[in-house]
Amino acid sequence: MSAQRIEGKQISDAIRAEIVQETAELKKKGIVPGLAVVLVGEDPASKVYVGSKAKACEQLGFYSEVHRLAENTSQSDLLALIEKLNKQDSIHGILVQLPLPKHIDEKAVIDAISVHKDVDGFHPVSVGNLVIGDVSLLPCTPAGVIEMIKRTGIEIAGKHAVVIGRSNIVGKPVAMLLLREHATVTVCHSKTPNMEEIARTADILVVAIGKAKAIGASYVKPGAVVIDVGINRLEDGKLAGDVDYDAVLETAGYITPVPGGVGPMTITMLMLNTLKAAKQTHAIGV
Ligand code: GUN
Repeated sequence: MSAQRIEGKQISDAIRAEIVQETAELKKKGIVPGLAVVLVGEDPASKVYVGSKAKACEQLGFYSEVHRLAENTSQSDLLALIEKLNKQDSIHGILVQLPLPKHIDEKAVIDAISVHKDVDGFHPVSVGNLVIGDVSLLPCTPAGVIEMIKRTGIEIAGKHAVVIGRSNIVGKPVAMLLLREHATVTVCHSKTPNMEEIARTADILVVAIGKAKAIGASYVKPGAVVIDVGINRLEDGKLAGDVDYDAVLETAGYITPVPGGVGPMTITMLMLNTLKAAKQTHAIGV
């Protein structure tokens, strides 16, 4: 039997409808969630992402500012802008689009963002809170992965979750979130010798390695939940995940497509974080 597709777009639309409702409630109290997006340079993919984030704000009734800075902007000018946004009351979330030009120290920039406005969840204090299990703004893609699994009605507690990939943006935080949901978690990476064998023991397999169609059916236990975080551009211009979707379809129990799986969730979770940050600033329960 074919795996059931987990439709990220539908789940994302449902969350967006909830955000619109909550935003309308906040507006009655005179609060408009506000997001500042900062783009330095001309990276074409980043430009597209930043445009999508601004559009999402508009659709959901948020206030937004997009700061497009020249490639040769100095680190101190960028830090000065962040400092200004940290203090600006109309802004509840700040996102500096990565990657930054080489002359700018990414860590210094992430560290400069107020933890209360860290809607990317990349600040070391946010990461620490995530590990401890304290309230914090969660990184968008990992939070989206958990939300998709839960909203599909799949139980996480007690399951064996295998994460392939250990990046700071996806692999590590998604492993921590799965642990927080009471899964038993194994993290595999490029130096793991028996990855295929380990992956085949997973009830939930999350793949985030950035290699098109690298994970085939031999990595998947029959009936497993397969979450594909990869978005890779093929030579023919089409998009493909890290999982070989067609090859895995008959083995997996559930699978996220690419496109239309995890992708649509990421910006929606960013919007949810901005809403959360606005509520936290005004001490409204989250
Ligand atoms: N570049 C690619 N993904 C991301 C992300 O999630 N956040 C930021 N700030 N930049 C990115």
